[in-house]
Amino acid sequence: MSQPKILLLGPPGAGKGTQSANLVETYGVEHVTTGDALRANKDMETEHGTPREYMEAGELVPDPVVNEIVQAALSEAADSGSGFVLDGYPRNVDQAEYLAEITDLDVAAYFDVSDDELIDRLTGRRVCDDCGTNFHVKYAPPEEEGVCDECGGELIQRDDDTEETARERLRVFEENTLPVVEFYDDEGDLARIDGEQSPDEVWEDLQSAVEDAQ
Ligand code: AP5
Ligand code: MG
Repeated sequence: MSQPKILLLGPPGAGKGTQSANLVETYGVEHVTTGDALRANKDMETEHGTPREYMEAGELVPDPVVNEIVQAALSEAADSGSGFVLDGYPRNVDQAEYLAEITDLDVAAYFDVSDDELIDRLTGRRVCDDCGTNFHVKYAPPEEEGVCDECGGELIQRDDDTEETARERLRVFEENTLPVVEFYDDEGDLARIDGEQSPDEVWEDLQSAVEDAQ
């Protein structure tokens, strides 16, 4: 059976990164995440300015920049015969239409989480500066404060995880990305998952959605 092509949709803090790690471990798929790719290239000069200016304000980076990242990552996955999990893209309907031109998908899943819970998760998130593993001060604390359980790296807070920027990111999600959720819903194959469950319960539901599609 070939590896699945999976799309994860959900607001900031819904658990896309957390569940992508499970998908990579279980199915061996490539993790294609525009957020991480942009964070690694925050000061890259483009004709639209640098990603940093948009990201630190909680706004979307212009489509040509992110479309190029995704196109390159998906063609690399296709060349090596891998499946993928797309995390953080598409974020508006133009991106969704572009994606439909360059690949098909086996599963699109949406994590539904309330705004209060999202703010709590984002402001409490800590990320390993070396390996990128996610922690949370309350929901997924590391064994030793500030130190990554996986690699011993330093845990940091993302620049866009302040309450003010997190609220702007939620507003941008509602305005631009909820229509994308409807776009996939209209196609009739969106798996809606209760993202407020524990990470293990969310994973069970996600795995069922992937197995059902295969
Ligand atoms: P990006 O990095 O994609 O951020 P995001 O979509 O805002 O999502 P997050 O990474 O914040 O949340 P997540 O869903 O991955 O949650 P996580 O698993 O970490 O994008 C950042 C920026 O880049 C954007 O604002 C934009 O500027 C730019 N950008 C990116 N893509 C773009 C695009 N396509 N177009 C234009 N611009 C783009 O979980 C969050 C926390 O909750 C963690 O601490 C975790 O431990 C905890 N947690 C996870 N699951 C649970 C659970 N079930 N219960 C309790 N806690 C949980
Ligand atoms: Mg993420």
